[in-house]
Amino acid sequence: MSILKVEDLSFSYDNNKLVLKNIDMDFSEGKVYGVFGKSGAGKTTLLSLLAGLEIAKDGKILYKDNDLSKINRDKYRSNEIGVIFQSYNLLPHLTALENVILSMDISNLKVKDRHKKAMQLLKKVGLDENKANRKILQLSGGEQQRVSIARALSYDSEIILADEPTGNLDKDTEEDIINLLINLAHEDNKCVIIISHSTEVKNRVDILYYLVNGKLAE
Ligand SMILES: Nc1ncnc2c1ncn2[C@@H]1O[C@H](COP(=O)(O)OP(=O)(O)OP(=O)(O)O)[C@@H](O)[C@H]1O
Ligand SMILES: [Mg+2]
Repeated sequence: MSILKVEDLSFSYDNNKLVLKNIDMDFSEGKVYGVFGKSGAGKTTLLSLLAGLEIAKDGKILYKDNDLSKINRDKYRSNEIGVIFQSYNLLPHLTALENVILSMDISNLKVKDRHKKAMQLLKKVGLDENKANRKILQLSGGEQQRVSIARALSYDSEIILADEPTGNLDKDTEEDIINLLINLAHEDNKCVIIISHSTEVKNRVDILYYLVNGKLAE
């Protein structure tokens, strides 16, 4: 079943140059999607629109048949999608555990359950209690990326968006992170959308989209 749909979407930041041109896309649960394209092709812009951070004015984005430009986007962002940003966006002076718990502030979970849930999520992405209690600054890049994945999972959204999740990682760590993201789709039935330049990611996703100068290529 389609959970997210893009219909004839065009977008520009400053009304002169179109960054995205007549895009149609369809995303379902249980699958991993890859969005590829050269630097400047419009990938992060597309992710910002899917995440409800920018609003589509020309064309539509539908979440479960609801037009994103018409629904409560604060609620959408805090409940329906988890985003893993290009720069991990973690708070460096807090611990891994605190970073995950912090993003639960907006979720419905009772305070006493948050600690337990956050610890479970960190374990799921391969971080033990010792690492969970370390400050972000004391973790490696790959470990920080795991924290940002745990954080994106913290409110159990059905959609996970990841912008270059393996950008700065070595081959082995990259493979671990890809496996984690693929399992989220294939085992936990999430809709996983990965923006990437990596051939490793390209070879592993279920469905590939290519952006060339803001247009979808065949
Ligand atoms: N906030 C902004 N305001 C104006 N123009 C922007 C803004 N963000 C991006 N752009 C422009 O939009 C175009 C697409 O940028 P975008 O960040 O979507 O590319 P990308 O495919 O993610 O590239 P990369 O692979 O380098 O991350 C670029 O020409 C960029 O300069
Ligand atoms: Mg980008």
